[in-house]
Amino acid sequence: MNRNTSAIYQDLDQILVTREEIAAKVQELGLQITRDYAGTSPVMICILKGACLFFTDLIREIDLPLTTEFMAISSYGSATKSSGVVRIMKDLDNDILDKDVIIVEDIVDTGITLNYLTKILKQRGARSLKIAAMLDKKARRKVENLQVDYVCFDIPDAYVVGYGLDFDQRYRNLPDIGVLSPRIYGNG
Ligand code: IMP
Ligand code: MG
Repeated sequence: MNRNTSAIYQDLDQILVTREEIAAKVQELGLQITRDYAGTSPVMICILKGACLFFTDLIREIDLPLTTEFMAISSYGSATKSSGVVRIMKDLDNDILDKDVIIVEDIVDTGITLNYLTKILKQRGARSLKIAAMLDKKARRKVENLQVDYVCFDIPDAYVVGYGLDFDQRYRNLPDIGVLSPRIYGNG
């Protein structure tokens, strides 16, 4: 998709992270995870739907006998604000007892979703549990002591879309990450 000619890109105020920057960072992270998990076969959990693109790119940069799982959670709330109540819509297919687990998430915002998820997965007896997030919006964190082990990009407090991230289920297919124009979501 050409970012200069695509009509979808007209809904963005600004491109925050380009596809080239994403690819370079994802490759770097893949190498780091390969080193950190040498000698193990981690379970990589993709948090649907937002982390899907990041996940499929990342696992191809990890040279380990890993396995993949998919989980869908929904956090109630309006399109651009999460309420803090989280529900599992699709659970893991296999148990994670004694496994080295890496949760792959699109973005950490308030941290409420991941805080809830890590609690559940720890209760299921994972040997180790780490979080890999594409984006981190630190300014909006509401949960203290949430350890995000791997982050590709720290971003400012703005609503972003693309590379898996949506607004009202749209824009996930943009190869770059950009700030959605407030005129699209009617000033919140
Ligand atoms: P948290 O529980 O507040 O950390 O929310 C995390 C979830 O909110 C992410 O997995 C996203 O689905 C969604 N989210 C938060 N900020 C954004 C954004 O800027 N764009 C798109 N989705 C977002
Ligand atoms: Mg979402």
